[in-house]
Amino acid sequence: MAKTYNPYDNMLQVLESAAQKLGLKPSDYETLKFPERELKVSIPIRMDDGSIKVFEGYRVQHSSTLGPCKGGIRYHQEVDIDEVKALAAWMTFKCAVVNLPYGGAKGAVKVDPGKLSHAELERVTRRFTAAILPIIGPEKDIPAPDVNTNAEIMGWIMDTYSMLHGYAIPSVVTGKSIEIGGSLGRAEATGRGVSIVTQEILKYLGMPETGVKIAVQGLGNVGGISAKLLHENGHKIVAVSDVSGGLYNPAGLNVPALRAYIEKNRTLEGYSEPGARNITNGELIGCECDVLVPCALQNQITSANAASVQAKLIVEGANGPTAVDADEILSKKGITIVPDILANAGGVVVSYFEWVQNIQELTWEEDQINATLKKIMVRSFGQVLEIVKEHRVSFRVAAYMLAIGKLVRAKKIRGVFP
Ligand SMILES: NC(=O)c1ccc[n+]([C@@H]2O[C@H](COP(=O)([O-])OP(=O)(O)OC[C@H]3O[C@@H](n4cnc5c(N)ncnc54)[C@H](O)[C@@H]3O)[C@@H](O)[C@H]2O)c1
Repeated sequence: MAKTYNPYDNMLQVLESAAQKLGLKPSDYETLKFPERELKVSIPIRMDDGSIKVFEGYRVQHSSTLGPCKGGIRYHQEVDIDEVKALAAWMTFKCAVVNLPYGGAKGAVKVDPGKLSHAELERVTRRFTAAILPIIGPEKDIPAPDVNTNAEIMGWIMDTYSMLHGYAIPSVVTGKSIEIGGSLGRAEATGRGVSIVTQEILKYLGMPETGVKIAVQGLGNVGGISAKLLHENGHKIVAVSDVSGGLYNPAGLNVPALRAYIEKNRTLEGYSEPGARNITNGELIGCECDVLVPCALQNQITSANAASVQAKLIVEGANGPTAVDADEILSKKGITIVPDILANAGGVVVSYFEWVQNIQELTWEEDQINATLKKIMVRSFGQVLEIVKEHRVSFRVAAYMLAIGKLVRAKKIRGVFP
């Protein structure tokens, strides 16, 4: 039977190793093991056929030590509270790695959005927003898009929250459409961050900075933009996949054509091009390539398939794509992993820019946004790299050490209430 992985246990294991490397006392980081607040809600919806269905939703706030909580909302039929708790904790560490004045949170609704009509999706979103309303807000907790949620859904959240307060409050969510206070550059930010960090690590490892063979799992917001920008940087995207399956072309896939097809048909299913053959998601993980960029869901690389990985480098676009036991196997094979809390932090960086613009009621130019994002990603990569070199640890443990060090110092200054 396949082993089941609990992402929260994964998070706790990495937290322990990083805390030990930092020489912390257990009492220094005890609070980081527990989310500050977990809310579970029921979401009753009138379906289009007149029946009533009740969905389950969650919002978890892991830490507000460094500022208001921040984190996406995911719609997925298999989501559970441990996944949301892990995702919330990763947000805390991610914001600390890139030095944002935010804590971490995450939300989810247990639903397959593909099985809802557009009107049902809107009703689920508005009722979920009403249910979590007491704990969200621009100064408390600011949601954003994640798996299966997008700018349209963020717009419904912003509208519901604003209607219930009686005036427009754009700063309650990020990742909105530009017309209602979204930021230029936000839609591409996570993938842009992934591509910036990929270029940095290629340089550090002495690998070619153009023309490397890259496999991207998941072609949604993060994977689609990562593939586009890495292709524009002159790399060969040899493999891609989504929930419907994947494609492999050793000569490099036609990324603009692939993206146009997905834009029209929602998935890769039915796409073909000369020289490409169909592969499964499992085959993509083990395909012949230099760099593997998982951008779908957690626990895609596990002890069951880690030995098959041929890439020399993994850049984690998704949150938690590599299980802890897979990390050990990959590290023994000499494979470098740039961890999620660094590699995919570009999204929350530009979400922060969006929130700041909303609060200040002004807008920034796109080149200014992209240039500041690049500066932050390159600086954070450099800080993590310093720790890798000084302590001879993996990039994952180094990124956690950077984050935990900041959080523990801040916690000491704030003290424990009462
Ligand atoms: N959206 C953001 O700004 C952001 C920021 C940081 C991290 N992330 C993380 O990146 C990952 C992807 O998020 P997204 O926003 O791009 O979501 P998305 O819904 O836009 O895209 C998800 C993609 O993964 C594919 N997928 C789903 N299940 C799969 C499976 N079992 N095998 C292969 N492919 C599968 C989907 O078909 C789709 O192409 C998640 O782990 C998310 O938490 C997202």
